[in-house]
Amino acid sequence: MRTLNLAAVAALCLVVSACSKDGGGSGEAPPPADAPAAAVSTDTDKAAALAALPAPYNTGDLSNGQSKFALCRSCHTITEGGPDLTGPNLHGVFGRKAGSKPGYAYSEAVKAAGFTWDAEHLDKWLASPREFLPGTKMTFAGLHDPKDRVDLIAYLKVETGYKPAP
Ligand code: HEC
Repeated sequence: MRTLNLAAVAALCLVVSACSKDGGGSGEAPPPADAPAAAVSTDTDKAAALAALPAPYNTGDLSNGQSKFALCRSCHTITEGGPDLTGPNLHGVFGRKAGSKPGYAYSEAVKAAGFTWDAEHLDKWLASPREFLPGTKMTFAGLHDPKDRVDLIAYLKVETGYKPAP
């Protein structure tokens, strides 16, 4: 965690580009471009994270999940600290109370939903958001093939920092 925070600060400095500029060219080296990425990064890590998921998600097809996520991408980012688009950033969505990401303006329907996102809720939501939570402003028709939903949920678990309950 600590190193991540430091990396985040360093990245911010780069963006703001004011951290070492006025110091008379201190010659400070920029942070390495290949600083360790968050938790799951390599294909091997992803395969291990997939295998650790509860059934049926442990047999999900990550590449199909990734291609189904193309349906969500225009409205959602999944990287840690990623921006909200039309929909909220989904990093850490598993275990998060529905409608609770700070800074995002949810509909009353989602704010009042009262549950915490897990695979079961997500499965119903993705099958038909407007039937599951009438009044939602997520205008997505639904993903009708149950296997596609398993694959997409497995993909989201692997990519959004899901941690199995201890
Ligand atoms: C056209 C834009 C759009 C598309 C496409 C879309 N979403 Fe959404 N999504 C939204 C909006 C807007 C909300 C907020 C809903 C509300 O407040 O009623 C949302 C909310 C959510 C939430 C609830 C988040 C929370 O913090 O409670 C999840 C989970 C979600 N979307 C997942 C997905 C997935 C997975 C897909 C792809 C299958 C997808 N969405 C496709 C716009 C979209």
